[in-house]
Amino acid sequence: MNFNLEINKEKCIQCGLCIRDCMPKIITFNENKEPVSIKERENSCINCQHCLAVCPTGALSINGKRSENSQNIEKEFNSEMILNLIKSRRSIRHFRKENVSAETLEKLKDMLDYVPTGVNNHGLFFSVIENKEVMDELRKAVNDRIIKIVSNKAIKPIAKTFERYTDAILKGEDIVFRGAPHIIVASTPKNAPCKDYDGTIALSYFELYAKSLGIATCWCGLAYACFKYIPGLKSILNIPRTHDIAYCMLFGYPEINYTRTTQPEKVPVRTIKEIKIKESFWSKLFE
Ligand SMILES: Cc1cc2nc3c(=O)[nH]c(=O)nc-3n(C[C@H](O)[C@H](O)[C@H](O)COP(=O)(O)O)c2cc1C
Repeated sequence: MNFNLEINKEKCIQCGLCIRDCMPKIITFNENKEPVSIKERENSCINCQHCLAVCPTGALSINGKRSENSQNIEKEFNSEMILNLIKSRRSIRHFRKENVSAETLEKLKDMLDYVPTGVNNHGLFFSVIENKEVMDELRKAVNDRIIKIVSNKAIKPIAKTFERYTDAILKGEDIVFRGAPHIIVASTPKNAPCKDYDGTIALSYFELYAKSLGIATCWCGLAYACFKYIPGLKSILNIPRTHDIAYCMLFGYPEINYTRTTQPEKVPVRTIKEIKIKESFWSKLFE
């Protein structure tokens, strides 16, 4: 990425917000109080585009992104609705045997550009099966192998995982994919600063946005384990060699609907009321 900061002097009101919100401190005022970049720091730009997003008059373009191409931001969100969405999300294991419409698939995929990634790495890669016939082929390929694995107790980590499902698997039940017509597999670059988190964060956003569009999802640790441990399966997903699978999520139109929320136990949330540091221990570290 070539760093490029452009300021429209007629629009700039010299408020300094772009300077204040530049995390790597690349922007400063020049002697005429115009925002300019500090040349030696330009390499530190993580292309977060906060300067573009925060400018109240749309005076700033960064790295080829112009303010007129950004969407305006709603000032208020319905927090009750968002909480209701969170409370009513479910891991759904009964899907209609039909493809999600192309329009909805596009919306879901487009949303993925906006998920947060550590150090704004944005190196995520998603493999999506958009056609249920293709999903059926994957289902067969995986289930054929799992039957062999549970029968022969081969590939230890997988055999152990599937032990408790042996009867169902031998009866031909689709324990892994739950009859879903689609799967999305998130993978992250092996060298991404937050590789262990970016993929699951992305799928969490996917889960909630999908729910808002009437699409059911199910986190799928079993599919993750299959892709990880059964040789030859990962290559089906066309994942770049530079990436590792982060997690998998099934999705499709729900065949069942839930009438009410569940009633989870309270999780411990502890307020820290004072900070106690053992100075003697701490100072010993630096002796
Ligand atoms: C990381 C993770 C992995 C999961 N893996 C599977 C899975 O492989 N198969 C499955 O049917 N459900 C899976 N689930 C769904 C959980 O079993 C589910 O969250 C739990 O039953 C509670 O239901 P709820 O999500 O509707 O609240 C997974 C959930 C998470 C968060």
